[in-house]
Amino acid sequence: MCGIIGYLGDRNGAEVVVEGLKALEYRGYDSWGVAVRSNASVSIKKQVGRISDFDDLSSLPFANIAIGHTRWATHGSATAANAHPHTCCKGRIAVVHNGIIENYQELKSSLVAKGHIFKSQTDTEVIAHLIEENVAFGYDFNTAFEKAISDLKGRFAVVAIVDSDDQLLIARKGSPLVLGMGDKEFFVASDVPAFLKYTNNVVFLEDGDVASVGSARSLRPGVTITNRGKVVTRSPKRVSWDVEGAELGEYDHFMIKEIMEQKDTILRAINQPKEDIKRISDMINLSDNVFFIGCGTAGKVAQVGSYLFSKIAGKRVDFVVGSEFPNYHDFLGSNTLLVSISQSGETADTLEAMEVAQKAGAKLVSIVNVVGSSMMRMSDYSLLCNSGPEKAVCSTKATTAQIAILAELAFACAGRLDQGLNLLESVASQVSSMLDDGISDKVRSLAKKLAGHESMYIIGRSVNFPIALEASIKMQEVPYIHAEGFAGGELKHGPIALIEPGTPCVAFVANDDVKSDMISNAMEIRSRGAFIIGIAPENDAVFDFWIQVPDAGVLSPIPNIIPIQLLSYYTALEKSCDPDKPRNLAKSVTVK
Ligand code: F6R
Repeated sequence: MCGIIGYLGDRNGAEVVVEGLKALEYRGYDSWGVAVRSNASVSIKKQVGRISDFDDLSSLPFANIAIGHTRWATHGSATAANAHPHTCCKGRIAVVHNGIIENYQELKSSLVAKGHIFKSQTDTEVIAHLIEENVAFGYDFNTAFEKAISDLKGRFAVVAIVDSDDQLLIARKGSPLVLGMGDKEFFVASDVPAFLKYTNNVVFLEDGDVASVGSARSLRPGVTITNRGKVVTRSPKRVSWDVEGAELGEYDHFMIKEIMEQKDTILRAINQPKEDIKRISDMINLSDNVFFIGCGTAGKVAQVGSYLFSKIAGKRVDFVVGSEFPNYHDFLGSNTLLVSISQSGETADTLEAMEVAQKAGAKLVSIVNVVGSSMMRMSDYSLLCNSGPEKAVCSTKATTAQIAILAELAFACAGRLDQGLNLLESVASQVSSMLDDGISDKVRSLAKKLAGHESMYIIGRSVNFPIALEASIKMQEVPYIHAEGFAGGELKHGPIALIEPGTPCVAFVANDDVKSDMISNAMEIRSRGAFIIGIAPENDAVFDFWIQVPDAGVLSPIPNIIPIQLLSYYTALEKSCDPDKPRNLAKSVTVK
């Protein structure tokens, strides 16, 4: 969680950093802060609330070096004192951090015993004091920083500045950090969109990297990267994302922009190098046991994937939620394959699962959207979703891209890749027409009805059971409706007691082998008074409200989730909720 950025160059650092934080706000939006270095002193501005509401730079001096942070609170509530940057006792050193310092209590006690005075409840503040302690001992800033970093346990991305030198000092272990290499100017951020306006020439830092970025006047001019004390070379890469992809354009919110982008993103997702698809499908076919994992929405995609593999390729794949995967430790070995699904490629629980599998000798494949992410770099092979930046906190376009890629792999495993690609292309074009054809108007009228309800239930069977679960996540996180998803057969084993006259219930009824069972399940709840919303290619007497979706056969999860994405968006608008930044959430969940 949290977004960090640093700048060194000739522009007004405060402006670059505030602008970058606005692009990173999806990573955390409880509070924010900026530190700038000018005239050999460090000035700080911190505030509770959202950086997007801030545009008065006059309180910060012009400076060529600046760092900033937008926070999703973990240690200490969302107050100005807990907002980053954090400083040392004398206010000479300022630090921003993303991640968790696991041994901060121990470090803090020893620093307090040495006379350091802490101003916040955060784990981060220890870093500033540790550097200060090392400087007081006689080390230069660079060495003091390196020594402080070597004392930290946990996952972190850290950027620090000091009043006495023209440098940004940077460290990465487990949390994302990327350098932007401009023309005589440098950027560092949690994610590329923070500086995409200035450069797309980037260096993805590796775990254990410590970097110094200095101007001509600094102790160490240019960029130097070390890892375990040795200088290393990290080649710059061009990222293909463009600025428009990371901006709102004609839309009011990123969520609706990203839903609409599904007109193209499904096609982009299946446009994978054939040799990669072949290699990974061979690995799946040859492995003794294959696990698909992910968290939240990506977890539901993983579950859809296990059904697709069973239905398309007759191949057993186990689905496990990322955070539960370590419990499967005893079933892992050198002939195990772990396929991790993630938009960000940074989700801590999924990364930990990958570490567990790697230690047991398993092979790792990931399906991720963010180029250069931790999962991508940790995996033996990766497939990119090619969805472009996904900035709304809830996942939409990456979800359908991931399902499409899993379907492509399933067809490849079945030796029917070309047939699968044809089917996927036709689903992509069906989705495109559905989004063009004014489905939004119908969904919007339903959103008006739903906005007044506190609870709803969602059912699906087979490939659409995980879609019912995913639909419930969408209705919970965007318009804050208490939504629960169930396998169609399950409601009557208990939850049916909750159905009252008028309770909204969504039923996914695809044209498949479970259609008649789904209709029976819808009837069971309708006869208890439920208001049935059918998402189906064909209308049925049991539906009180019908949303037509294209008939996509076994690929029905792709079109089926789209009306729900729209429904959650429009219901959020009806309830005046911010669809891009739901309460208590952040885009990239880098804590366990
Ligand atoms: C919900 C949502 C989350 C993410 C989850 C995993 O809309 O976006 O549930 O799916 O936090 O994130 P990634 O995909 O980045 O691993």
